[in-house]
Amino acid sequence: MPVTAQSIHPKGTMHSVLFVDDEPNILSSVQRILRKAPYNVLTANAPEYALEILEQRPVTLVVSDFRMPSMDGVTFLEKVHHISPDSICMLLTGFADTESAIRAINNGHIFRYLKKPIKESELLEALRSGIRQYELVMENRRLMELIQKQNTELKKFNHELEQIVQERTREITQQKIELENLYHQLDNSFTEMIRAFMTVIEMKNPTIGGHSRRVAALSRKLAEFMGLPDKEVRDIEVAALLHDIGKITLPDKLIQKTEAQMSEHEIMLLRAHPEIGASILSDIQSLHMVSKIVEAHHERFDGKGFPKKLQGGNIPFGARLIAVINHFDHLISQENIDKSHRFEIAKQFLESQSGKWFDRRIVQSFIKFIKSTKKNGKFLKEKPVEFNELQPGMIISRDIFTRSGLLLLGRDQVLNSSLIKRLFQYHLIDPIQEQIHVYAQSMKNS
Ligand SMILES: [Fe+2]
Repeated sequence: MPVTAQSIHPKGTMHSVLFVDDEPNILSSVQRILRKAPYNVLTANAPEYALEILEQRPVTLVVSDFRMPSMDGVTFLEKVHHISPDSICMLLTGFADTESAIRAINNGHIFRYLKKPIKESELLEALRSGIRQYELVMENRRLMELIQKQNTELKKFNHELEQIVQERTREITQQKIELENLYHQLDNSFTEMIRAFMTVIEMKNPTIGGHSRRVAALSRKLAEFMGLPDKEVRDIEVAALLHDIGKITLPDKLIQKTEAQMSEHEIMLLRAHPEIGASILSDIQSLHMVSKIVEAHHERFDGKGFPKKLQGGNIPFGARLIAVINHFDHLISQENIDKSHRFEIAKQFLESQSGKWFDRRIVQSFIKFIKSTKKNGKFLKEKPVEFNELQPGMIISRDIFTRSGLLLLGRDQVLNSSLIKRLFQYHLIDPIQEQIHVYAQSMKNS
C-alpha cells in the first residue's frame, strides 16, 4: 500500500522534525534554536534510536550528523528512506568532504547538505525549505491520486455509458422492427378491410364499383400531381373508392334511376347516402378522415350542396377534389353522348362550374393535369390485352361477349383473380368474340 500524505503527516498537526547526532551539545543547541518554531522537535543521540522512532511515528524531516560512531549519516539516511520514503532528509557535517557529499546525494536521497557549525537562520531556512518540499511532494501525489481516481471513474462511466448506448440501440432497433411488423400487419389489415368494402359495393352494384375505382385512380393521381402529402393522398384515394358506399343501403331500382326519374321521397333517400356512408365508416379509427370526406363529397363550393350545405374551405379538401373527379367520370361515361365529344363537354362543364360547384384551384389543377397526361397519351385510353396479360385491378373498357352472344362481363367491371379464371374457363367452352380491352389508367404503371 503506498504511503499517503495523510499517513506521514496527519492534517492539522505540527510537522515532526528529527535530529540525529552523537554530540549532545549539538542536539541541545538545536532544541534551543527551535523552541519557538512551529515544529514538533524530536532528537536521537544514535541512529539506531532514530530508526526506532521512525518505525513508530511519522516524521516529516530528518537531519542527521554525518560522522557517528555506529553508523555514518549516509548509511543511516538510506535506512530512513526505506522506512519512511516520503521523509525529507538533510545531512549535517563538520567538514567539507566532496566524496561523501556525492555519495550522500546519490544514495541517501538527501534534500540538502548543511555545514557545522550551523547558523540559526540557515537552519530555520533549511527546515522551511524542507517542509515546503515535503508539502509540494504530498500535494503533487494527492493531485496524481485524484487524477487517477477520476480517470478510473471516467473509464467506468464511459464503459457504463457505452453499455447503456448499446442497450438503447438494441432496444430501439428491436422496437423499430416490431413497429415495422405492426405497420405491415396494420397495412395488410387496412388493405383487406378496404377490399372487403369494395366487394360489398361491387356485389350490390358493379357499376358503382367500376365508377368508384376510376374516381379513386384519378383522384390519387390528381392529389399526387398537386403535391399533397402521402397520408392525404391515401385518405383521398380510399375516400374516393368508398364515396358511394352509402348507396348499398338503397333499393336497386332507385340506384338505377336518374334524379329526374325520382320522386321527391326517392331524392331524399338518395341524398342521404353521403351521411349513411360516413356513419358506416365513422367507427373505424383509421378511416376517421375518410368518413369526413365521404360525408362531404356532394357539398358544393358555393354552399348549395348537401347534406350540410358546407361552403368553400369548410368542405374537406379531399371532398372538394373528389367532387370534381366524380362529376368528370359521370360526364365522360354518358352513353348518349358521342365518345369523341365527351371529354370536351366534361371539361367545359367543370370550367363553367369553377368557383360555383367546384373549387376553382382544383379545377385549374385538374385541367393542367389532364393536359399533361394527354400529352403523354395516357389519359383514359383503352388498350387491347391478351389473356395472359390480365391482372386483378384492371377495369374492362368494353363489354365482353362470347361468339354465341352471351355477355360475360360488362364495361367498367373490375377484374379480380376469380373473374380472370372464370373468363378463361368460359373462353375454352364458348370463345370470346373480340379482343379484351381495359382502361390504360387501370393498368399498373400507367
Ligand atoms: Fe355520391
